[in-house]
Amino acid sequence: MCDLELKGIRKLYDGVARPVIPSLDLTIGARQMVVLVGPSGCGKSTTLRMVAGLEEPTAGTILIDGRDVTHLPPAERDIAMVFQSYALYPHMTVFENMAFGLRIKNVAEAEIKRRVVTVAQSLGLEPYLERRPKALSGGQRQRVAIGRAVVRQPKVFLFDEPLSNLDAKLRGDMRREIARIHQSSQATAMYVTHDQIEAMTLADQIVVLKDGVVQQIGTPVEIYEQPANRFVAGFFGTPTMNFLSADLAQTGEQHAARGPGFEIPLALSPSLRPAQSAVDRIVVGIRPERLSLEKRGGEVSLSGAVAMREVLGAEVVLHLESDAGPLTVRTDAGSAPRPGDTVQVWLDPRAIHVFHGQTEVRL
Ligand SMILES: Nc1ncnc2c1ncn2[C@@H]1O[C@H](COP(=O)(O)OP(=O)(O)O)[C@@H](O)[C@H]1O
Ligand SMILES: [Mg+2]
Repeated sequence: MCDLELKGIRKLYDGVARPVIPSLDLTIGARQMVVLVGPSGCGKSTTLRMVAGLEEPTAGTILIDGRDVTHLPPAERDIAMVFQSYALYPHMTVFENMAFGLRIKNVAEAEIKRRVVTVAQSLGLEPYLERRPKALSGGQRQRVAIGRAVVRQPKVFLFDEPLSNLDAKLRGDMRREIARIHQSSQATAMYVTHDQIEAMTLADQIVVLKDGVVQQIGTPVEIYEQPANRFVAGFFGTPTMNFLSADLAQTGEQHAARGPGFEIPLALSPSLRPAQSAVDRIVVGIRPERLSLEKRGGEVSLSGAVAMREVLGAEVVLHLESDAGPLTVRTDAGSAPRPGDTVQVWLDPRAIHVFHGQTEVRL
């Protein structure tokens, strides 16, 4: 039962003006799967490599199970890492690749065999134990890389975009495999990806990173339903959330978002109102699945012309041009209008997200 803690972690690469990670604090509870997600270059691998001991932090402390490992070599940290590139030894068989870490730790031969065979069975690798990596498919290689980490029974698993080199179908299968392994191993895991779907489906907690700075930490549902700022709101969800620029209008106690072709009543929490006296511009966010072509009551309407229609099978995504700007609507395939049609879309004011016009934080 192990937790992982990063305290004031900073990373400044030599010869680079700005730190990749200015100051990062993060606690990962025992047995949790934490997914670090953000765009390419935001510092995810750097963070993971510091936890692994492959990169030295410029400042700060890393604790595994309460033990300061900041300056320990990787082998003494009780971690196992899975890389995007698999990083298998090409001259070794699958068995030897999986056994290697245990040999180094002087685990008894019978125990090595028992663990490798058990894990190979669970990953469907038993028929391939005597093969070399080059005689395996990409998906099989990635299984070996995962198996090699699992046999070591580490305190902490580290995954760096382990599925990025696989095709979409295999990625889904392996994602479920990793979830299963995590559930049965009960180990703590830190998983890095740029893929919002992987983050949503795998994480107990998601950490959203941008330019080395944490934007939000929360469960997948919290991140989706209560995004802390416009960046997080736009990062999660397909198609992307709609954003409408608006004025914050006030009539007595009632607030509204007012923009070209729309006025949406806002239920702002009373505690937020004083701070908003300084706010005049806001951004209204609405997810494409929360816009409807049918009026259900109590809603606000916007009208727009259908510019494009993307058929996804059961659903259709409509791209509209409206006075308020472009709008994306997710709707049933059967009911979807055609390009050139002018349509009314309805939104429930309770389903919107409101962000500060300048700082972009959630209001
Ligand atoms: N060894 C290095 N020296 C200098 N800059 C680096 C080094 N490694 C990574 N970087 C830079 O640090 C930033 C973050 O990189 P990285 O952690 O790999 O991002 P991510 O994994 O989120 O895509 C990038 O701008 C990258 O170019
Ligand atoms: Mg990376």
